[in-house]
Amino acid sequence: MKKIGVLQGDYIGPEITGEAIKVLEAADKKYKYGIQFDFIEASGEAYDKYGEVLPNSSIEKCKSCDVLLKGPFGGPPELINDPKWSNIERGAILPLRKIFNLYTNLRYVKTIKELINFSNVKRDVIDGIDILIVRELVSGIYFGESGERQTPYGRECYNVESYNEHEIARIAKRAFEYALNRKRKVTLIGKSNILISSILWREVVGEIAKEYPEVVLDYMHIDNASMQLILNPKQFDVVLTTNMFGDILSDEASVLSGSIGLFPSASIGENDFGLYEPIHGSAPDIAGKNMANPVSSILCAGMMFKYSFHNTEIANDIENAVNKTFTDGYRTADLHDKNDPSLKKVGTKEFGDKVVENLLK
Ligand code: IPM
Ligand code: MG
Repeated sequence: MKKIGVLQGDYIGPEITGEAIKVLEAADKKYKYGIQFDFIEASGEAYDKYGEVLPNSSIEKCKSCDVLLKGPFGGPPELINDPKWSNIERGAILPLRKIFNLYTNLRYVKTIKELINFSNVKRDVIDGIDILIVRELVSGIYFGESGERQTPYGRECYNVESYNEHEIARIAKRAFEYALNRKRKVTLIGKSNILISSILWREVVGEIAKEYPEVVLDYMHIDNASMQLILNPKQFDVVLTTNMFGDILSDEASVLSGSIGLFPSASIGENDFGLYEPIHGSAPDIAGKNMANPVSSILCAGMMFKYSFHNTEIANDIENAVNKTFTDGYRTADLHDKNDPSLKKVGTKEFGDKVVENLLK
């Protein structure tokens, strides 16, 4: 029996998370797996009720779950200073990562062949890419010392990037483990010509690499890596990097595949506890219209089976059910091409229904 805590998220959050739940229920029925859901209040929903975006009662509920399924948190850009939304990142998103020590963040980019024309990058460059970004998530500049001081030149603010050997080693091991089941290459990305923290990453990761002689370790500076990701993304298999560089590179990488509405992420701590969420935001402009693409959230369910429940059969089944839905020509608005008569434009719910149908076949 697995208990999945559901933090539905804001705006399109409940709509797309609802489709992931439908797919999880279908998988549960098909494989007689044993899944139970627990809805947990957080973000806007919690603020409206308790004046807090991540109340203690919700944290306690999260602790009683095996994994968390999270929708996007956040409000519209024009309300960024509204007290309801201004504290979402530092009041809810980062604390969730830190409290549960979710130090490994996984984001993947794969080409989905039916959608290849949606990418702004040339077809032959992206055809066949399969990249797994392993981003450190609970340290580095996001959580380093920070402050503000007065200087003769006005206020000065600082954020410190720091990493210790333990933090680097534990995520490096994971990256090599994942690489063993893939193309056996890890590319470490840093800025070791400037930052001593990057030099430490190179040293520690170099030591760990000796335990994995089957895996090739490569190193790239962040500036070059940002360029290589567009020029020749097929050279990457597992990308290992810091919190800040991983944040930037993962947005860049998502562009390769066409729509940001397609991608899930996993944030994993010790002992398989994980938080699964789309990589995109809450899209207030299309909320409540049954228009959002639920694929990112549905694929969170797939990642959950793979990385927390260690069941690749169900994970692949979910992924294949999504791909089959694309092959059959179903598209939500973001991926619809009205000039292609073979495509059928559907809403969030109808797309989810098709995925369920394919899964149960
Ligand atoms: C991400 C997001 C977050 C981050 C924000 C919302 C705090 O951009 O998950 O990539 O910077 O980590
Ligand atoms: Mg980001």
